Amino acid sequence: MSTDAPDAVPERVCASAELAERGRAVIWDVTQYGQPVRAFVLRLDGRPVAYLNRCAHVPTEMDWNPGELLDSERRWILCSIHGAAYDPHDGRCVGGPCGRGRLVPVKVAEIDGEVYWYPSRDIRPVPFDEPAPGSSR
Ligand code: FES
Repeated sequence: MSTDAPDAVPERVCASAELAERGRAVIWDVTQYGQPVRAFVLRLDGRPVAYLNRCAHVPTEMDWNPGELLDSERRWILCSIHGAAYDPHDGRCVGGPCGRGRLVPVKVAEIDGEVYWYPSRDIRPVPFDEPAPGSSR
């Protein structure tokens, strides 16, 4: 489980209005242990919830179309690869080949109409490219 970094500064993900209740998720890029991975945030019972977009069965992205992660009844997060189902409240596996696994949560908050995520020790923002030698950046 991720631990909050003492210097965690919130990073903007999207406008609150982009997240409809149990609608399409917003995807963004992060790193986990220095490796690129995507995260997603969706609105559940009025609040944003976020996880890494990585199945507990096989470490692959789960959406069947970008941002489409919920089942047809909008109840479970469903992996499009082999059908693992996760409780969107806590990321716990509730069916399929994910066993006792669970999704990795990402801390998010909604502030003044914007959704932010909080980097942790393990889950960090994607670093900006270093300026090329001789560039004026
Ligand atoms: S990769 Fe998600 S259920 Fe197999």
